Amino acid sequence: MDLNGKTAVVTGSARGIGFAMADLFASKGATAIVTDIPGAAIDDAVKQITGKGGKAIGIPCDVSKEDQVETLMKKAVEQTGRLDVAVLNAGILRDGLLVKADKETRKVVKKMTLDQWQAIININLTGVFLTGREAAVQMVNCGNGGVIISMSSIARHGNAGQTNYSAAKAAVSAMTVTWSKELAPYKIRAAAIAPGFIATPMVMKDMNPAALEKWKKAIPVGRMGEPEEIAHTALYIIENDLLTGITIDVSGGIRV
Ligand SMILES: NC(=O)c1ccc[n+]([C@@H]2O[C@H](COP(=O)([O-])OP(=O)(O)OC[C@H]3O[C@@H](n4cnc5c(N)ncnc54)[C@H](O)[C@@H]3O)[C@@H](O)[C@H]2O)c1
Repeated sequence: MDLNGKTAVVTGSARGIGFAMADLFASKGATAIVTDIPGAAIDDAVKQITGKGGKAIGIPCDVSKEDQVETLMKKAVEQTGRLDVAVLNAGILRDGLLVKADKETRKVVKKMTLDQWQAIININLTGVFLTGREAAVQMVNCGNGGVIISMSSIARHGNAGQTNYSAAKAAVSAMTVTWSKELAPYKIRAAAIAPGFIATPMVMKDMNPAALEKWKKAIPVGRMGEPEEIAHTALYIIENDLLTGITIDVSGGIRV
């Protein structure tokens, strides 16, 4: 698919990887729908893109709320006449061990809370389901085909300290395969990207600093990734019409 003249919704695009994608898509001639939770820096992101001559429209949406997601995808079509690309990028971290024992007593002193579990499921899994479903509704009704890209993670194989996140990201990869089969008759492709460690606010602010330092030393290319490198992968997926039903690792060689 050539992005010129197309419409691309990117959830969680006020900053980080989502912003890099919206910015790149607009530079290729697409109208970028910049969407994030109400209160996020959506207007700033839109201004940055339009300031460079790109087309961008801001629409607030919490991806875990069904009514907001339905409205988001409807508005994207009402305002631009079409929907060609949806990147289901919004996500959060709530890391913790399943159970943690005291070093001396060997008795459990802490456990992953149901709130930690549920927050990840609501946003990283239900949010992807809802935005993927509503994007598909609009793409099928528009009749132009489309591309749905989900954000998985190398953690999908099962990362210590991320019971909740690993479970959601594995499910996202599985949904991608399901959608590639169900949506192919409508000329809609579905693929996922599994980043390693990318220098965004999520990792730099929300990850345990000691754990991050340890992981950084283990990255074969010797550095973290940049958001633009993940955006470049999304563009590759969009432009390659044979690509569907897979998760692409972009991690500098690190595996979980
Ligand atoms: N950064 C990494 O190393 C890394 C690695 C693997 C996967 N990922 C995935 O990539 C995606 C983007 O991550 P990032 O590093 O850019 O994170 P980030 O925290 O920098 O950006 C995430 C954006 O999502 C938004 N968001 C959070 N909850 C939302 C909700 N309920 N509705 C709508 N928007 C919401 C945030 O406001 C934020 O703008 C996530 O799905 C993340 O799990 C990131």
